[in-house]
Amino acid sequence: MSILTFYGHACFSLKHENTTLLFDPYFTGNPINPAKAAEINCNYILVSHGHGDHLGDTVEIARRNNATVIATAEIAALVGQQDCTNISMHLGGKRNFDFGYVRITPAFHGSGVPGGHAAGFIVNFFGKTLYFAGDTALFGDMALLGRLEKLDYALLPIGDNFTMGPDDAVEAVKMLKPGAVIPMHYNTWPLIAQSPEAFKEKVEAINTPVFILNPGQSMEI
Ligand code: NI
Ligand code: MN
Repeated sequence: MSILTFYGHACFSLKHENTTLLFDPYFTGNPINPAKAAEINCNYILVSHGHGDHLGDTVEIARRNNATVIATAEIAALVGQQDCTNISMHLGGKRNFDFGYVRITPAFHGSGVPGGHAAGFIVNFFGKTLYFAGDTALFGDMALLGRLEKLDYALLPIGDNFTMGPDDAVEAVKMLKPGAVIPMHYNTWPLIAQSPEAFKEKVEAINTPVFILNPGQSMEI
């Protein structure tokens, strides 16, 4: 059993015994994150792209915990220049870790770093498989991801404007065929205000459960 905690926006932690992964650690300046970067302990930090609301507090948290940053080559190099331990991967690559494996998926979005590409992650963590889509538009190859991996959970942006909105995220669910869905990247600012309840209703109409987590809330997976 593992614990998934939502910190608001696209920031999550995933913990099993002594292993904690952190996704897109946006604490400082995140208006809906109830936690402080200084109180976060983790072993690995997965960074989807270089925008400030995703790279966030990566350097501070990685240095203090001696955590390993897992990211595309350009992000890995960027944090490496700031004395962070890092593992460089890229789109389509899969790698085994002590907790399971990580596959880096394409995301259709800006990279936030010169020459880079936005990414998502499929993470197998102590037997459960999660797709963290990152910031992305809807794209048809999500069907391929759903075919390659049996996804237990899909963490999908629904905020619109910068990423998929709720209706496109419903289409993503149809292609990914995950066991359950957790919405993210909404209600951080008025510009990406959405009703997760309305999204839940649409996704549950296609027989996929949705878990809405409030910032600071955890669930067992
Ligand atoms: Ni972004
Ligand atoms: Mn973003």
